[in-house]
Amino acid sequence: MNDAQPMIAARNLVKTFRDFWYRPKVNAVRGITFEVRRGEVFGLLGPNGSGKSTTIKMILGLLRPTRGSLLVLSRSPRDVRAKARLGYLPEETYLYPYLTSRETLDFYGRLFDLSARERRERADQLLEMIGLQHAANRLVGEFSKGMARRIGLAQALINDPELVLLDEPTSGLDPLGTRQVKDLILALARRGKTVLLSSHLLADVEDVCDRVAILYNGTIKAQGEIGELLEVRQQHRMTFPDLSEEKLEEVLAAMERIAGNRPTVDHPRRDLESFFLDVVEQARKETGESSGVRHSEGVANYLSSEAASPPAANRLKELLTEKAPLPSEPEPSPEPPAHEEAPKPRKDLSEQARRKLETLLPTDADPHE
Ligand SMILES: Nc1ncnc2c1ncn2[C@@H]1O[C@H](COP(=O)(O)OP(=O)(O)O)[C@@H](O)[C@H]1O
Ligand SMILES: [Mg+2]
Repeated sequence: MNDAQPMIAARNLVKTFRDFWYRPKVNAVRGITFEVRRGEVFGLLGPNGSGKSTTIKMILGLLRPTRGSLLVLSRSPRDVRAKARLGYLPEETYLYPYLTSRETLDFYGRLFDLSARERRERADQLLEMIGLQHAANRLVGEFSKGMARRIGLAQALINDPELVLLDEPTSGLDPLGTRQVKDLILALARRGKTVLLSSHLLADVEDVCDRVAILYNGTIKAQGEIGELLEVRQQHRMTFPDLSEEKLEEVLAAMERIAGNRPTVDHPRRDLESFFLDVVEQARKETGESSGVRHSEGVANYLSSEAASPPAANRLKELLTEKAPLPSEPEPSPEPPAHEEAPKPRKDLSEQARRKLETLLPTDADPHE
């Protein structure tokens, strides 16, 4: 499989659930076409019931498409060779409550035939990556929803997958947990992993995805690069450093003279998430608590930075024995704080663009879920 080939290619994919008498019952997915390219973070955005989980389950080979074609890593989703290279975080985290974090990861490592040493090393690295080293020997049954979600994410990565499928990765998390999971996804992307995630939350998709498809009622209503989808091309915006009233007046007058009409002026706005995180960070400092709201996210070192050719385990062994830090490793903290994390135009959404996106969505998407 070369780089140009998509990691996932869906053409006119249809899934109709049938009832006991084999009569069509629910048209969950009604002919969707999309591609997920190597190394990108692709978002399936849509309200509850729009067909996101069904699509993900077809990609995993858990559900058989009713019609259309679907290739995952250039193979049928039912091919075990494709499955071995996938990682999956289900919508609900199912954990064995009487296993500890470490035992949980060890269990999944066994399913992938990893050696005892590999399992131990990977569990250590993953626990550190998700910030749960301190809870390595606690029963996962006692975990908060956020901790369980993070263990679920670690479990999805134990086999060093090339393609990671995350169904509502931030569901049920508070803003801090959400930010941590989003940072982890960005860290995986930097490692060259391909990620497909689903969400009904606009902010998740906006912050981490390169491209999105907006699903509604089983059909794709819009898809493309986030920046392009949201850009209002008919308008231009400039940002000036702080100007005195008089200077600003001069600039506006000059612009009016040149362009024929007076531009509107406002102040740039931060997003609520970064503001909230700053407030919490500040509060923690005041109470002397250790911070860690936005601890820079390293990524487990064993996760290979390029697509491992199967059998992945051999390639991993090489990587582990080399012991050299991988070149793309962003250590120790080149990652800017979340509120400055604006290298891509997608962060700088005008209110107008945001509203436009929201009009595409029906109102039954529950933002608090
Ligand atoms: N196993 C199933 N049997 C029948 N209908 C189903 C089944 N799974 C999902 N559906 C229906 O398919 C539609 C899409 O569901 P789903 O893919 O779970 O949506 P989403 O993940 O976007 O919330 C919904 O109407 C849902 O009720
Ligand atoms: Mg779902």
